[in-house]
Amino acid sequence: MRPFERVILLLLGSLCGRWVLATEIEPRREYFYVGGTYKNITTGNTTDLYMLNQIYVEKFTPPHPSQPYPIVFIAGGGQTSTNFLETPDGRPGWLSYFISRGYTVYLTDQPSRGRSAWHPSQGPIYVFSATAISSQFTATSSHDQWPQAHLHTQWPGSGVPGDPIFDAFYATQVQSIFNRTLTEKLNTDSYTALLDRIGTGTIILTHSQSGPYGWRLGDVRPDLVKGIIALEPTGPPFENVFPTRSFWRVWGITDLEIDYEPSTGVNGTALNTTRIPAIDSDHSECILQADPPKKLKNLSRVPVLVVTAEASQHAVFDYCTVDYLRQAGVQVEFADLAKEGIKGNGHFMFMEKNNMEVADRVYRWLKQQ
Ligand SMILES: *[C@@H]1O[C@H](CO)[C@@H](O)[C@H](O)[C@H]1NC(C)=O
Ligand SMILES: *[C@@H]1O[C@H](CO)[C@@H](O)[C@H](O)[C@H]1NC(C)=O
Ligand SMILES: *[C@@H]1O[C@H](CO)[C@@H](O)[C@H](O)[C@H]1NC(C)=O
Ligand SMILES: *[C@@H]1O[C@H](CO)[C@@H](O)[C@H](O)[C@H]1NC(C)=O
Ligand SMILES: *[C@@H]1O[C@H](CO)[C@@H](O)[C@H](O)[C@H]1NC(C)=O
Ligand SMILES: *[C@@H]1O[C@H](CO)[C@@H](O)[C@H](O)[C@H]1NC(C)=O
Repeated sequence: MRPFERVILLLLGSLCGRWVLATEIEPRREYFYVGGTYKNITTGNTTDLYMLNQIYVEKFTPPHPSQPYPIVFIAGGGQTSTNFLETPDGRPGWLSYFISRGYTVYLTDQPSRGRSAWHPSQGPIYVFSATAISSQFTATSSHDQWPQAHLHTQWPGSGVPGDPIFDAFYATQVQSIFNRTLTEKLNTDSYTALLDRIGTGTIILTHSQSGPYGWRLGDVRPDLVKGIIALEPTGPPFENVFPTRSFWRVWGITDLEIDYEPSTGVNGTALNTTRIPAIDSDHSECILQADPPKKLKNLSRVPVLVVTAEASQHAVFDYCTVDYLRQAGVQVEFADLAKEGIKGNGHFMFMEKNNMEVADRVYRWLKQQ
């Protein structure tokens, strides 16, 4: 596989006195499935045994691992772990970057996604249309759907169907389960099984739709989650603002229960909220907790980095997620890329033209932990 960090050993041939052999040593690559459970499922008149919720995991071990904890990557909605292998225009992806920094990396596919099997009993699935991917992620400056959209310059290529780079990216889109609460439960269960199997403690990297699963894992296994890198996590708290205000996330950052202190009561009814006006017209208002805020009991033990790109729709509201986490006692560093001089990125910053510059920013945070 081309993009991996390579060590070239040149051995001098003893017999004819010339260079005869070039051996490449690449990271060790293994795969396994974890988290599957057997279930009897009835279809029509027949009941039979199936395995559900196992996730596909690829483990890459560098020749000389030098970091205390591996990184588990969880791609976002419609995506698989190809997001991090290479970029759609064939450059090395974040996998190569973090291997070159000495990290063991686990690339994964969410339950019922990519190489993790879906079963019809898990209900309807959806796939992003090419129009949605283009207008929201790869050619946002032509659509102007949010105030920062016109600042998008880092996507390689024109970002529209027919452009070979867009086509290569769109071809990687797969199905996602429609039911949000079911998906959150399946992801939490499967990735908890992965954390337990690794056993040594891990860094979790989430993107977008997988963001809430990172919060859940930090809640369920605070001793095994050594840090969370949340690239534009699903948000803002409680109520989505794009494209319109919609649905209510009962526990603020998650649909299912996450532990607060004092308790949020039955169905989260004791979680009191208040609306905070937007900081300016380029941003949305935020829903935070009313005083006195409850603390995220376990999650507050896990250091968090939130990364937000200049031209993404998340530039409108990710600051609310950061404020919410901090209010609830979580130690969060906010990499608001534009403010740090990293300009022009969209939601898929890890595959854009300057993807290694953004990776460097994440690495700087990891080194401080
Ligand atoms: C499935 O059904 C069989 C036959 O009733 C039973 O023996 C088995 O324990 C069941 N397995 C599970 C995982 O429920
Ligand atoms: C299920 O069983 C019923 C009753 O035996 C039968 O009428 C029906 O055709 C069966 N359905 C299928 C899909 O086999
Ligand atoms: C979604 O999944 C949850 C959890 O499994 C379930 O309780 C709920 O009924 C499902 N919703 C729909 C619309 O199927
Ligand atoms: C919180 O963390 C502890 C371990 O430190 C664990 O025993 C407990 O189950 C966690 N809470 C939840 C809600 O998972
Ligand atoms: C909690 O939510 C469940 C599911 O929506 C509902 O059945 C139950 O009545 C609720 N309980 C309270 C006390 O609100
Ligand atoms: C939360 O709100 C409820 C009802 O709106 C109110 O009765 C309760 O006192 C509030 N709790 C706190 C701690 O502010």
